[in-house]
Amino acid sequence: VQVSVIGAGYVGLVTAGCLAAMGNDVRVVDIDEARVARLRRAELPIREAGLDELVRASLEAGRLRFDVGLAAARGGRLAIVCVGTLDADGEWTGDQVRRAILGLAADRQAPRGIVIRSTLMPGTTVRLLAQALELDRRVELAVNPEFTREASAVQDFMHPDRVVIGVAGEAAASTLVASLTELYSPLSAPLVITDPTSAEAIKVASNVFLAAKITYANELARLCAAVGADVQAVVDGLGMDKRIGRSFLSPGPGYGGSCLPAQARALPELARRAGVETRLMAAITSSNEDQAEWLVGRLEAASPGALSGSRVALLGLTFKAGTDDLRESPAFRLARSLAAHGAIICAYDPVATLPAVEELAAQGIEVSGAASSLVACADADAVVIATEWPEFRSLPWADIAAVLRGKLVADARNVVDVDAATAAGLSVLSLGSVRGPAKRRTGDTPREDGREPSSREADSGPVSLVSARVGDAGPS
Ligand SMILES: NC(=O)c1ccc[n+]([C@@H]2O[C@H](COP(=O)([O-])OP(=O)(O)OC[C@H]3O[C@@H](n4cnc5c(N)ncnc54)[C@H](O)[C@@H]3O)[C@@H](O)[C@H]2O)c1
Repeated sequence: VQVSVIGAGYVGLVTAGCLAAMGNDVRVVDIDEARVARLRRAELPIREAGLDELVRASLEAGRLRFDVGLAAARGGRLAIVCVGTLDADGEWTGDQVRRAILGLAADRQAPRGIVIRSTLMPGTTVRLLAQALELDRRVELAVNPEFTREASAVQDFMHPDRVVIGVAGEAAASTLVASLTELYSPLSAPLVITDPTSAEAIKVASNVFLAAKITYANELARLCAAVGADVQAVVDGLGMDKRIGRSFLSPGPGYGGSCLPAQARALPELARRAGVETRLMAAITSSNEDQAEWLVGRLEAASPGALSGSRVALLGLTFKAGTDDLRESPAFRLARSLAAHGAIICAYDPVATLPAVEELAAQGIEVSGAASSLVACADADAVVIATEWPEFRSLPWADIAAVLRGKLVADARNVVDVDAATAAGLSVLSLGSVRGPAKRRTGDTPREDGREPSSREADSGPVSLVSARVGDAGPS
């Protein structure tokens, strides 16, 4: 099938790379000339596992090309719109999608079958279709949302749980549904064929549900800390229930990225404007934002007043491991909170130190960058692990302890090798963890006073920050 993909970002490039690898003839169109020039040399603007190889092979095989401007989309059977849906303030907007669709609709040589892969708030496509039909009655629109997660997007694209297609009118009579069914047939995924507004709602409701699930786990971590429960055991036990499931139930520093935060704000706002009260949905964002502040509060509680003027090594800056995406990263919220408490931050990230330091500076947060974890930790009073990068699982704790000034390691992702760090003389803060000294296990040395620790003591124990587990870094 000859398809044009509009937008060469995270979703557009994955869609194009995978469709080309499936044997389709794919043209990618973007408005960013520099991006297109680099892509023609097989230089990817984003980091995504396996994508480099797909793009390189398809370019060489002549199944993939990159162009500037919508005119390059002419001639194909389908145009798949993957442009961004965030405005300059990081809030959801349908403006770029509208411009792309109306631009395609106005060009009679462009495909008449237009597929929207960008995430739209329910109700957007029906309005866009009415505007597009005024330009050309032959235009057909389908909503075909993307459910991939950054860092495993290629794998997710090739093995979807379902393919959702939303079209207006009689689906069985739609040539667009037939084309999409043919396009995705090699994936052997269940098809959900519905109307455009329901398809839009499936996508946004999925993301907001995942945001809620992460937030629930984060609130559980706070509750477990207060009552002396081990949040790790709690989420594992909860997750074994098939009705609940373990994924997206790991507490951490809060969700981030380009999708969950903006959509968790936009969906309840849409409901509010529609006169629908959604108290549960509306509470997700503020709880998520509280999480970084709560984590830093735990650090402060571990040694009251010590953060002011202290040096903190912040390890990990992307919104999750395996991506270079910094959008709404919880590491930035941690940095903001640490800075507000008077800490001086030196940061390191395996792939994004420089852009992150620049972005933080643009947001008014002064952070210096380091070339490695060890350099970031030199003379630091505390270490905060914000992202679950694999290299943080095997940090050289003996070397780090030798250059650190303080002893505190706050692990917001539960990636620290606690035994190695403890053996190096460091204290690992992991709230709710059974490893904390305020909580004894069978065989542990009893307290000198022979009493069990009270929940208050467990809560304010000197080595507790958060007990989190890696793996649920969010879908986008
Ligand atoms: N990032 C993810 O993992 C993910 C996952 C699922 C869904 N989504 C959704 O997919 C959409 C795209 O997200 P993204 O992260 O790929 O965005 P992005 O910002 O990485 O890329 C968007 C691209 O579109 C280009 N563009 C904008 N207007 C254009 C136009 N008129 N013509 C051609 N190109 C144009 C931009 O130059 C940019 O290269 C969003 O709606 C997002 O919510 C993203």
